[in-house]
Amino acid sequence: MGKSLKSILEQEAFTKEDLVTMLRSEGIERTLLFQKSSEIKEKYIGNKVWFRGLIEFSNICGKDCLYCGIRKGNKNLKRYNLSDDEILDAARFAYNNRYGSIALQSGELESPAVTDRIENLLHRIKELSGGELGVTLSVGEQEPEVYKKWYDAGAHRYLLRIESTNKELYNKIHPNNKKHDFQRRLDCLKSLQDIGYQTGTGVMIGLPFQTLEDLAGDLMYMRDFNIDMCGMGPYIEHADTPLIVHADKLLPLRERFDLTLKMIAILRIMMKDINIVATTALQAIDPIGREKAVKIGANILMPNITPGKYRDSYKLYDNKPCTDDSAEDCQSCLEARISLADAEVVYGEWGDSKHFERRQKTKDKR
Ligand code: 5AD
Ligand code: FES
Repeated sequence: MGKSLKSILEQEAFTKEDLVTMLRSEGIERTLLFQKSSEIKEKYIGNKVWFRGLIEFSNICGKDCLYCGIRKGNKNLKRYNLSDDEILDAARFAYNNRYGSIALQSGELESPAVTDRIENLLHRIKELSGGELGVTLSVGEQEPEVYKKWYDAGAHRYLLRIESTNKELYNKIHPNNKKHDFQRRLDCLKSLQDIGYQTGTGVMIGLPFQTLEDLAGDLMYMRDFNIDMCGMGPYIEHADTPLIVHADKLLPLRERFDLTLKMIAILRIMMKDINIVATTALQAIDPIGREKAVKIGANILMPNITPGKYRDSYKLYDNKPCTDDSAEDCQSCLEARISLADAEVVYGEWGDSKHFERRQKTKDKR
């Protein structure tokens, strides 16, 4: 017989087998897991949540990930690209409402025009907020020089999900060509960290062909890479994507949801002071999915502040919630929800990853 969950939870470090046992836990054992992760969150972070106002500024994408609703090959979609003024208005909304930070996200494009545009936007966002708004970028794989340019222009966090750390699985959910290269993704994460970004990654949970061992491997990668932030959510099939042919192989949505909560709880136990996002995809499955994630370990929420008329066109997966709301609706809805989860939204602070601060200090001492 293997170790009991209770004895595993008393350990300081975990083997891959331990992680799989944790991912398998049900009933009372799962309750123990969630209790432990909530306690750790309370102790290291407090019962707090920070906002990142999410601006999905363009759904134009040069890539063709087999799971993603805004992939280049999907023609059943109106493409949009916000004007600079629309982006700046959304940033101003975040600043005026005392969100500490915004996150700029879009489909993936690499070009000098994109590099210059984002650099310019960063300067203007910093200007309109007197340097106060923190900015997270999530615009995919880029050359190190580009990452550096944006860092120098004021972005200080970057989210680039690895999607899966199992190379074979990665290759099954992406076209196999130079544009979708597993090693490049790893290299990009490394260069972001080397430049000095607070670096975030994450995976999708419940992908076709994915095993619990794969997910355990993902957690180990995040620990070994020493990430500062994580955003991970359930995979939700999208009818207009090639991966839909494997829909019959998927776990039921509810199980993908449960597995995501366990991934969040385990990561919180492993990496006590990182920032973990309660992702919107959780809410696509369970109306109070994000609140559940906050209770067991997540501490970041990304209210959507993309102008309403574009939201319907940023559908990465089917049934994406809140696509009809305005930014104001999202804020008041989230506030009420978060207080239901006994947590409190912190305004006017960046809410940087404490893990990052600690990592910087140990680096300085060296
Ligand atoms: N289901 C869930 N998440 C998805 N993403 C893209 N497509 C899907 C999907 N079908 C996630 C990816 C990407 C992030 C922006 O959205 O993890 O990195
Ligand atoms: Fe756009 Fe994957 S489809 S980055």
